[in-house]
Amino acid sequence: METKDFWDGWWKKYEQEDWDDNPSLFAQFAISYFPKEGIILELGAGLGKDSRYFAHQGYKVTSSDFSDSALEISKWEANAQKLLIDFQNIDIRHPLPFKNEAFNVVYAHAVLHYFSHTITDQIFREIHRVLKDGGIFATLLKSKEDPEVLKSLKLHENFYQTPQGLVERFFSLDEIQNEVNGLFNPTVMDASEQMHETENATFIRFIGLKIKGGIAYHTESTSQHT
Ligand SMILES: C[S@@+](CC[C@H](N)C(=O)[O-])C[C@H]1O[C@@H](n2cnc3c(N)ncnc32)[C@H](O)[C@@H]1O
Repeated sequence: METKDFWDGWWKKYEQEDWDDNPSLFAQFAISYFPKEGIILELGAGLGKDSRYFAHQGYKVTSSDFSDSALEISKWEANAQKLLIDFQNIDIRHPLPFKNEAFNVVYAHAVLHYFSHTITDQIFREIHRVLKDGGIFATLLKSKEDPEVLKSLKLHENFYQTPQGLVERFFSLDEIQNEVNGLFNPTVMDASEQMHETENATFIRFIGLKIKGGIAYHTESTSQHT
């Protein structure tokens, strides 16, 4: 199944169900590393609870996902809470549709572990490109220590098909360090079990500061939203 169809179906269920609108543990932790004000881009925001949390704290927020059903629910909820959030349908497998240095923070919660090495490299470079100098990149990623690894089918090194039918990449701290090399200096990079709402799940927290310049971007993606 195309992953977009999976996620559209996944989020559609929430039109009928009650769900927890509290911000994630990671959002509440990461915000203390953000500048006091500025523009945040959230990638793969799902139902948008962290986007709304950041907006409530006074940040300008661009909230994105590639699932229309997630964006619909998220927009409805933002309106109900009288929040002004810029919503965009963005598939992060493609270059981000923003000009260089548009954001103070790029935030991705439980999103960046679905992609091949090549696509992951491109996503990290794109995040670097759209961040202002001194900008913060904050992400929570699946760790190799996650018990889900044991329940999943190994496809090749670090890539597994999970019981949900998704292909996921599980990271070690060293692999994250390799991905961010030359792009971001880690401020926080650690793993433990108390970082996510799901019990018995082990994630890695990464918060890093953009390393100024030095990257030759290969994309032409400067069609402008911001
Ligand atoms: C595990 S959910 C996390 C949702 C949200 N960040 C949260 O923590 O509640 C993963 C999210 O990534 C989104 N996603 C997966 N692949 C994507 C892609 N290629 N481009 C944009 N979003 C994607 C899904 O639609 C889904 O909302």
